Amino acid sequence: MKPRLRKVVFPVAGLGTRFLPASKVVAKEMLPVLDKPLIQYAVDEAVDAGADTLIFVTNRYKHAIADYFDTAFELEQRLERAGKHDLLALVRNVVPKHVRCVFVTQAEALGLGHAVLCARPVIGDEPFGVILPDDLIWNRGHGALRQMAEFAAKDDVGAIAVEEVPREQTQKYGIVDAEKADARAALVRHVVEKPKPDVAPSNLAIVGRYVLPGRILELLETTKPGAGGEIQLTDAIAALLGTGKVYAYRFEGTRFDCGSKLGLVKATLHFALQDPALAEATRAFVAAAAS
Ligand code: G1P
Repeated sequence: MKPRLRKVVFPVAGLGTRFLPASKVVAKEMLPVLDKPLIQYAVDEAVDAGADTLIFVTNRYKHAIADYFDTAFELEQRLERAGKHDLLALVRNVVPKHVRCVFVTQAEALGLGHAVLCARPVIGDEPFGVILPDDLIWNRGHGALRQMAEFAAKDDVGAIAVEEVPREQTQKYGIVDAEKADARAALVRHVVEKPKPDVAPSNLAIVGRYVLPGRILELLETTKPGAGGEIQLTDAIAALLGTGKVYAYRFEGTRFDCGSKLGLVKATLHFALQDPALAEATRAFVAAAAS
């Protein structure tokens, strides 16, 4: 049975400066890994988790994302007339019919916590998911968010995806101090945003997947700017720990940090190697380039 996680938030208002000059006009979430933009991988994962309402927190520079999920009437007509039904299906099925897309504006870039708070009128007070599309997670079986939603539904708790990172990188992530519960889950005792390696409570880092209770939105209303002067989701999660259980969840799958050039290269190679039409030539190219 699918867990009850109907709404998933995609904070996509970031500037994407690491991909300038391309991101001057191409939203970083629209950068392709092979033939699909990053946002499509994120949306597929949300739908796999049972979501029927996708909430994109966007801004005036990110129209391409709304366009992508809109009907491409002229293109569809042309493909239909040309009898290109495979391509037509690709264009039409970016989201299944039962799923709706909602766009809310984050007028000012005040941080991830603020972006999630912008979605409050759509979320109401039910549990919801958050996916940061920069973190592309590949798994042969169900996606990371589905795994977390199933886990969280059992006890009605929150879950945040984690993985170990080299200690010198703690300053790039939210870092968790947690007590092991089973092979995948650990009860979070404390969480801190972007600590220096010498004060980080561990090297267990949050990656971009969250299953959270609606109540966190109340906490976000009063969350003060934290690391980098931004309103941090991590700080609201820390406040939630006083009254609710949140688990750090080691998902099954491979994460690619597509917010970095190297991560995008790795993801592209990975998916090329998974694709029967590209695998052999890609392997040969990589072998030759490395020798
Ligand atoms: C955000 C979160 C951080 C998390 C990271 C995962 O940081 O604030 O806690 O570890 O995403 O990608 P950002 O990468 O937006 O600075």
